[in-house]
Amino acid sequence: MDHYCVFGNPVHHSKSPVIHAMFAQQTGQNIDYHTRLAPLDGFVEAVRTFIAEGGQGANVTVPFKLEAFALAHQLSERASMAGAVNTLHFVDGKIIADNTDGVGLVRDITCNAATPIRDKRVLLLGAGGAARGALLPLLQELPAVLTIANRTLSKAQELQKLAQTFTSCEVDAVTWQQLEEESTQSFDVIINATSASLQSEVPPIPAHVFGPESLAYDMMYGDTVTSFNQYAQQCGAKTRDGLGMLIEQAAEAFFIWRGVRPNTAEVLAHFQKKGS
Ligand code: ATR
Repeated sequence: MDHYCVFGNPVHHSKSPVIHAMFAQQTGQNIDYHTRLAPLDGFVEAVRTFIAEGGQGANVTVPFKLEAFALAHQLSERASMAGAVNTLHFVDGKIIADNTDGVGLVRDITCNAATPIRDKRVLLLGAGGAARGALLPLLQELPAVLTIANRTLSKAQELQKLAQTFTSCEVDAVTWQQLEEESTQSFDVIINATSASLQSEVPPIPAHVFGPESLAYDMMYGDTVTSFNQYAQQCGAKTRDGLGMLIEQAAEAFFIWRGVRPNTAEVLAHFQKKGS
């Protein structure tokens, strides 16, 4: 049996062990996957211990994604661009690192929610780690426009610059106020990558960004509808939360480790049923 885990602090709430157990059962892979609470000042040691015990790979969650980035011997392009790592694969004494969050988001939007991004107008709210992680996979879908809106304009501009090194798509950086004053058109996909929902807050975005066919996507998820999605629903948009992204990022990690793609629809249906 091969061993995998997720490092975090806290980590007891993680759904990843159940998700990976379901993937393993579906695909007949002989693995176990559990949570590992790493001390806040002991992430690197915890990883080394796990490798010494024969661990094959790991996921990494808050607050260790930057440390995991620094620890890697080899980074994927999407991990380099994200500046953070959520998946480690231990191969021949090397730590190979990836970031599957952004591709998880894009797959949930384009496949599970059947909402194309190609040639569409996309609004990305926030310019922190979550937004940065989404950037490359979003651009690879070739949207017509990607507008990055953030409370702190300089951070949105940094992401804009980074994006422009990878794409010829139009990428804009704006403040909430500019979104209100300068843009009158709605967006096809509006992604909330701010951490505002953690405080039950909603970024102050104008209602006109949402059209009746728009998909509003909150990367957060919870037992109740997030404050962002409540606002988007009031503005007439369709909404989706980050549960599907969680399952899709896990599926991509599973694929990296095992070379097989699990059936995510079944797992998503299981968690949606559980939450209802
Ligand atoms: P994460 O890793 O979750 O992305 P982060 O890197 O700290 O966390 O980034 C948080 C993002 O949410 C930032 O874009 C932040 O805006 P600033 O760059 O201006 O700080 C945004 N954010 C946090 N709280 C917010 C709020 N109450 N309203 C709007 N934006 C908020």
